[in-house]
Amino acid sequence: MKVVGKPLERRDAWDKVTGRTRFLADIPLGEAWYGGVLRSQVARGNLAGIARDAGFDWSQVVVITAADLPGPNTVAMIREDLPLLADGEVSFVGQALALVAAPDRATLAAALAALRPDITPSPAVLSMEEALRGETVIWGEDNVIADYTIAPDDMAAFEAAMATADRIIEGTYRTGYQEHIYLEPQGVVADPRPDGGVEILGSLQCPYYVLNALARGLGLERDRLVVRQSPTGGAFGGKEDYPSVLAMQAAVLALKSGRQVAMLYERHEDIIASTKRHPSRTRHRTAIAEDGSLLAADIDVVLDAGAFTTLSPVVLSRAILHAAGSYNIPLVRIRGRAVATNTPPNGAFRGFGVPQSIFAAERHMDRIARELGVEPLALRRQLVLERGDVLPHGQVLGEGNAAGALVLERAVTLSGYEKRRGELAAANAAAAERGDPVRHGIGVSLVHHGAGFTGDGEDRIATVVRVRGEADGTVTVLCSSVEMGQGAETVLPAIAAEALDLPLEAVRYHQPDTAAVPDSGPTVASRTTMVVGKVLVQACDDLVRRARAHGADARAAWSAQAAAGEALVGEGRYEPDPDIRWDQEHHHGDAYPGYAWMATVVEAAVDTDTLEIHPERVTAVAEIGTAINPVLCVGQVEGGMVQSLAWGYLEEVKLDGGRYLNDRLATYIIPTCLDAPRFEVELAAEPSPRGAYGAKGLGELPMNGGAPALAAAIEHALGIAPDTIPMTPDRLLEQLQARAQEARP
Ligand code: MOS
Repeated sequence: MKVVGKPLERRDAWDKVTGRTRFLADIPLGEAWYGGVLRSQVARGNLAGIARDAGFDWSQVVVITAADLPGPNTVAMIREDLPLLADGEVSFVGQALALVAAPDRATLAAALAALRPDITPSPAVLSMEEALRGETVIWGEDNVIADYTIAPDDMAAFEAAMATADRIIEGTYRTGYQEHIYLEPQGVVADPRPDGGVEILGSLQCPYYVLNALARGLGLERDRLVVRQSPTGGAFGGKEDYPSVLAMQAAVLALKSGRQVAMLYERHEDIIASTKRHPSRTRHRTAIAEDGSLLAADIDVVLDAGAFTTLSPVVLSRAILHAAGSYNIPLVRIRGRAVATNTPPNGAFRGFGVPQSIFAAERHMDRIARELGVEPLALRRQLVLERGDVLPHGQVLGEGNAAGALVLERAVTLSGYEKRRGELAAANAAAAERGDPVRHGIGVSLVHHGAGFTGDGEDRIATVVRVRGEADGTVTVLCSSVEMGQGAETVLPAIAAEALDLPLEAVRYHQPDTAAVPDSGPTVASRTTMVVGKVLVQACDDLVRRARAHGADARAAWSAQAAAGEALVGEGRYEPDPDIRWDQEHHHGDAYPGYAWMATVVEAAVDTDTLEIHPERVTAVAEIGTAINPVLCVGQVEGGMVQSLAWGYLEEVKLDGGRYLNDRLATYIIPTCLDAPRFEVELAAEPSPRGAYGAKGLGELPMNGGAPALAAAIEHALGIAPDTIPMTPDRLLEQLQARAQEARP
C-alpha cells in the first residue's frame, strides 16, 4: 500500500502548534451578543419563580425562562427528560434556570446577577447508595435509569456453580469522576436566519446529534437548520452530547433576540456545567473449584448517572459488555444499573463505561491471584480469551478478534516484567533497610475494547459517506466525522488516497457541515477509522465506477465532468453484515464488529512518606488491526495512557452537597508532560475484515489499561490492594493504617 501504513504528518499539526488555527473564541464576533446561563445553586428544590431586580434596565438584554421557550422544553438525546430550562423542579447544582443574551460581557454579567431565583430546597439524593435504597425517589419509580442483565445460557448451571463452589472470592471496586479538560472549553455561535431557522457553528463531535436536538427542541424542519463544526480543541467524549445543550441555549436566544449569539463557556463554567465520566461501583463474586479453576462469575455494575438520562443507558451497555474482562470464565452473569442522583448529569468520556468495569475486572483478577497464591501474570496467561472462546454475551471470538495472548506475551517480553518484578522487590527490601522511603512496583493489565456502536447500533446509524471529483483532479471527502485532535482529517483522506490511488495531497476534507455533508454518524465509539473509513472506501469505488462510465481514465473523467459543471459524486452506505446477530433486549449476540486488545505494564514509584505516586515507565502493546497511520496510533496510545493513569491516581472531582468543590484548573489537577512516564509502545496487527484496510478502532482502548496496571504496580510496591481510584495519598494512607491495625497483636 502506498499511503496506508505510512507515518504521515497530521494535516492540522502546523496550524495548531503555531497558533494559526482559529478556535471559536478566537474568531472576532463583531455584532454578536453574548449568551449566558443562570444556574441553580441548590441540588434539589422547587423553583417558584425568578424575580428581576427593578434597578436593572431589562430593555438592553433578552431573558428566556422555561415559560418563554418556543418548542418543547427538552434537549433531546436518548430520552427527552433533560429540560433546557428548569420548570418548577430543580434537580442539580448548575442546572440552567434562565438564559440571557446581552450586547457585551459586562452587561451579561450584570443581568445574570440581577436575576433572583426563588427555590425552596428539598431532600436530595447525593450518592449511588442512596439512589439504590430508593427512600427518596427523584427519577421514575425507583431512581433506576437503566437496568440490564447479561445472563448465561445455562442459568441452572450458573446457580449450581455459585451455590456449590469450593469458595467464593468477592470484591468491590470503585472508580471516580473524571473531567475531560479538553484544551478548548465548550462553545457554539448561533445565527438566526431570515426564514426563521438557525445556523450553529460549534466545537463539537456530532453535527447531526446537534441537528436532531435542534429540530426537536425548536420544533423546526431540518431544512431550516444547519450545524457546522469549528476547529475543535479536544473532546474525549465531552463534546458528544453536551454541545446539544449549548446549541439549544444559543439558538433560543438567537431566535428571540434576532441576533447572532455566542455561547462560550469559560473553564470554570465548563467544569460546573458539562458532563463527566460516570463514577462506578462494581461487585464481583467468583466461584472457584477445589483445584483453583474459575467456575462462574456474578458481576454487578452500578453507574452514577446524575440527574438525567443523557447517554447513560448506552454507557451502561458498553460497561457490562466488557465487565468480565479479557478472560474466559465458563458461566457469567452481569447486571448493570445506572441510577439517578441530584448531581450534574454524567455523559460520554473516552472508553464509555469500559474503563470503569474493566478496572474492576482487572483488580478482581489480581485479588483472585492473591487469594489463590498464584502470580497475577500466571492467572492471566491461564485465562486469557482465545479464538473460538465465547464472551458472556454469546459472541464467539472469531478470526482477527482474539489477540489477548499475543499482546500479553509481547508486553511481558518487551518490559522484562518477570525479571523486573524480582528486581524491584529486592530493591524495595534494600530501600527499607537503609531508610529510603521510595518503593517501586510493577503491574500488568490486559484489556480489550469493542470498536463501533454496540449491537445493531451501526445498522441504525446507517452511515453515508460521499466523495466528489473536482475539476483539478482532486477529490473532496464529504462526511460528518470531525477532527478533534485524534487525526480524522488526516486518516480518512489517507484511506481515500489509497482507494483512489492518489497522492494524499489530492484528497481534500470538507468541513463537517450538515448543509454539505451526509450523516456519517457521530464521531464516537472508536468507529471513525474502522467503520466510516470502510464506507469511505466504498464511496471511492463508487466514484471510480461512475467516472469510468465517462472514460477509461477515472481521474480525467471526474475532472472533465466537474469542469463541465456536472461533478461526479461517489457514495458509500453502511451495509449491515448478515453474519452479525444481536438481541438488544437480552444483550445477547455480536455486540461489536471488532475487538482491539492491549496489554500494559506499568512501573511506578511511591513515596511512603508523602504517598505520592509517580508512574515511571509504561510498556504498551496494542493490537488494533491495520494501523492506517502508525505514528498517530502511537500518539493515541500515549495520550490515552496518560489520561488513564491520571484517572487512577491524580484526577479527583470532589463534591459537597451535590456541588463540585474543585471546579477550576487551580484545584482540579490533571497531568502535564512532567507527569508522563517513559513510553515504549508497540502496535500489533490482526487485520479485521470489517474495517477499512483491516483497521480496528483504537481511540478508547488505551483509556482502559492504565489505571488497573498502575493499581497492580502500587500493590506490588506497598503490599496493599487498592480497589478504589483515584489512589490519592489519603486513600493509600487509610489502607496502610488499616493494615497496620490488623498487624497489631
Ligand atoms: Mo465517545 S466517549 O464514544 O465520544
